[in-house]
Amino acid sequence: MNIQGYWLASGILGVTASTMLRTLNSGADAVVTKSIGSISRKGHHGPILATSHGGLLNAIGLTNPGIDAFEEEMLILRDAKVPVVLSVFGDSPEEIATVAEKGAKMGPSAIELNLSCPHAEISQISHSPKITHDYVRAVKDVVDLPVFAKLTPNASDYVSVGKAAQDAGADAVVAINTVRGMKIDINQKRPILGNIAGGLSGPPIFPIAVRCVYDLYNALSIPIIGVGGVSTWEDAVEMHLAGASAIQIGTAVMEDIEVFTKIKKGVNAYLKDKGHKSVDDIVGDAGGIKS
Ligand SMILES: Cc1cc2nc3c(=O)[nH]c(=O)nc-3n(C[C@H](O)[C@H](O)[C@H](O)COP(=O)(O)O)c2cc1C
Repeated sequence: MNIQGYWLASGILGVTASTMLRTLNSGADAVVTKSIGSISRKGHHGPILATSHGGLLNAIGLTNPGIDAFEEEMLILRDAKVPVVLSVFGDSPEEIATVAEKGAKMGPSAIELNLSCPHAEISQISHSPKITHDYVRAVKDVVDLPVFAKLTPNASDYVSVGKAAQDAGADAVVAINTVRGMKIDINQKRPILGNIAGGLSGPPIFPIAVRCVYDLYNALSIPIIGVGGVSTWEDAVEMHLAGASAIQIGTAVMEDIEVFTKIKKGVNAYLKDKGHKSVDDIVGDAGGIKS
């Protein structure tokens, strides 16, 4: 699939075919499904969402129906011939490979590996270059589709992790997943989220995402898919300048499903104004070592 445009990020409106089709009809160029595992999973007990400092903290815990039950939704999307990236996770390289292999037969355009949910057991995978390599390799060995590795900003050396994903054959990296955080109720004097810790998304994490994309762009030769706090066309331009070829949008979609159309309009006007032919002209143009 072409790694360009503005896509729905995993976990937001990505559990049913109807909400994904609605997002595509509202201007998304592709959709990424909720991360799907080998069996159904209830997730963490509530509260699972809290707002903080203009962002959203979630500790959903990878609630999903399991890959076999998800086939029904995938087949509707396949019949509609729309670009869908299937996000998968697993507790071991063998498990994620099994989920990806089953899912690849359901018609997605690509597979995204969630190696980095900060409030689930899988949070540690993309802290380690070696473990990340094993997960990506296991999936590349069994599927014939593009494979994207989603990284965490919570790893101190995410660039080495990105390089390990690239060495294992990843076709792109996705940066970033949510940033680990928490919120405390000052009257009850207790953490608000049922899981205590959660993942922060939305505008407060935008500068963190830009920095990660910039670092990865300068270290890797595969495309970078930028995600994290993008809500305006100015954010999208900044993310492209840092090195993102495509951009995913999550939290901002909850407020305004038209965000894709608005961003495209703004980016196109910016490109025209600056005399550029396409987004490709500005990817990574922020002065990193490659430009
Ligand atoms: C409610 C919610 C659920 C999410 N679920 C997933 C998920 O299942 N898999 C995944 O890889 N990322 C998941 N994410 C992370 C997003 O895909 C994205 O990486 C992150 O929210 C940063 O982008 P944003 O600021 O545009 O939301 C979730 C985020 C939110 C807010």
